[in-house]
Amino acid sequence: MDNSELFNLKGKTAIITGGGNGIGEASAKMLAAFGAKVVVSDYDLEAAKNVAHTIEKNGGIAVAIDCDVTKDKELVKLTEQTLQHFGNINILVNNVGGGGAGREDPNQIEVAQFKKVFEMNVFSMWRLCQLVAPHMVKAGYGSIINMSSMASVNTSPAISAYASSKAAVNHMTKNLAFDYGPEIRVNAIGPGAVRTHALATVLTPEIEKRMLAHTPLQRLGEPEDIAGAVLYFAAPISAWVSGQVLFVNGGGTQTLD
Ligand SMILES: NC(=O)c1ccc[n+]([C@@H]2O[C@H](COP(=O)([O-])OP(=O)(O)OC[C@H]3O[C@@H](n4cnc5c(N)ncnc54)[C@H](O)[C@@H]3O)[C@@H](O)[C@H]2O)c1
Repeated sequence: MDNSELFNLKGKTAIITGGGNGIGEASAKMLAAFGAKVVVSDYDLEAAKNVAHTIEKNGGIAVAIDCDVTKDKELVKLTEQTLQHFGNINILVNNVGGGGAGREDPNQIEVAQFKKVFEMNVFSMWRLCQLVAPHMVKAGYGSIINMSSMASVNTSPAISAYASSKAAVNHMTKNLAFDYGPEIRVNAIGPGAVRTHALATVLTPEIEKRMLAHTPLQRLGEPEDIAGAVLYFAAPISAWVSGQVLFVNGGGTQTLD
């Protein structure tokens, strides 16, 4: 392949869930910068519109779509509206996820909360894969990127729902790679601690100091660090890479405890 094509996403359509902030926002901007037509979806429509607007101001192509990934009807609508806007679907960044942050003490939470974490982090990803896959096959190019976490392999207190849901994302990714190959590649990214709104709710200077003691690259992640890995999996350069989980973590381990 011509080297100039390795990162070229021109003509490809990408959906990013939770694209209004943090890692999703950086991923949407990164994919747009390399030529993709980008659907910035979020249940915070204003945030999604701001990101889409910035992309367009910088010469990219983007549209904002309102979608709560925990609602099946909205996932169906997201798929349909993407096709209406851009006519095809090639890249899916299943980015929305939540829970954890040391708030899952089994002596305090109930099954309903545990279930909610799996609905958001696992079921919604699986369902959106199911919805977009036929369109990726039809388009002749498909790459799905699921956002996991270092929590999928770390062990810490009061995070069992989030951590096990992200471990499920890793294994689901490897299995779906079989189901959707050879037309579609399915990979996951496991970020370490990345400076976003989500991290800001739990990060203290003491916790950051402890994290850096276990981080060779001596800083926490920025959303763009993760977006670089998203670009790699989305683009033709990773044409023979599927079923993988790439941990992007400054070479280390950052936990809250
Ligand atoms: N930030 C970190 O340190 C870190 C570390 C490991 C993994 N992750 C994973 O990265 C992903 C993104 O995290 P982030 O830190 O960028 O989060 P963030 O809070 O900065 O942004 C999340 C975005 O998703 C949107 N969102 C939340 N719930 C939604 C829903 N149900 N439907 C649609 N949109 C929804 C929010 O409005 C927001 O715009 C998550 O899967 C998270 O588990 C983050």
